[in-house]
Amino acid sequence: MNTALIVLLAATVVLVGLAAVFLGQETGVAGESENETVKLPQPQTAGSISVEEALAGRRSVRDYGAAPITLADLGQLLWAAQGVTDVRGYRTAPSAGALYPLEVTVAAGDVADLPAGVYRYVPSGHLLYRLADGDARSALAGAALDQSAIEEATAVIAISGVYGRTTGKYGERGIRYVHMEAGHASQNIYLQAVSLGIGTVSIGAFDDEGVGKVLMMEEDERPLYLMPVGKM
Ligand SMILES: Cc1cc2nc3c(=O)[nH]c(=O)nc-3n(C[C@H](O)[C@H](O)[C@H](O)COP(=O)(O)O)c2cc1C
Repeated sequence: MNTALIVLLAATVVLVGLAAVFLGQETGVAGESENETVKLPQPQTAGSISVEEALAGRRSVRDYGAAPITLADLGQLLWAAQGVTDVRGYRTAPSAGALYPLEVTVAAGDVADLPAGVYRYVPSGHLLYRLADGDARSALAGAALDQSAIEEATAVIAISGVYGRTTGKYGERGIRYVHMEAGHASQNIYLQAVSLGIGTVSIGAFDDEGVGKVLMMEEDERPLYLMPVGKM
């Protein structure tokens, strides 16, 4: 093989490698590489109790058992909050104009088969995208008047809103729509939790900036609810 051919082959290998890296960045959802995501178990669409029983049994629970919740349980709660239930992208909770301004983030501390960390729920793929390693529960409690439920929970689910997605179409009125939608998502989590034997409480008393920082929220994203979850 002559020198020119070797140089040409080497250049081709380098170019193909660069193209793979470039295309990988372009086609993936921001940073969603294999090792940064956790695929959640398929959500169940049949349960052991009726909607009426879940409604009658729903209570805010602030003390939890020591047992971790499973990854399937966590996935089911996230699916209840914002899971996709229709090929057109519609979700478990209604959304004004189907604009979906809510984001769901998890501070996982003691979830079976899930390393402690901060994760963002990605409804389209029913998966978690890892934002940070480590147990954020006590920092989160610190940003929420040291409410013990947050520190004692096995995980904390945060519902946040990106107002611009809705106000872009509905103006100021969109702000109220985003708050309404957080209520829908929160209630879905409550009812799903009853069905799974999991306790939760919707928490609104916290410092927005502190919670946003701990959960690595974006500039235009506002935390609306914290929902600690744990086995009853
Ligand atoms: C908007 C909102 C904010 C709340 N914030 C908190 C909170 O910061 N801490 C807390 O322990 N409970 C909080 N709760 C839960 C209420 O205290 C609870 O829903 C109420 O006591 C009624 O009890 P129940 O949910 O068991 O019916 C909040 C509820 C709502 C709807």
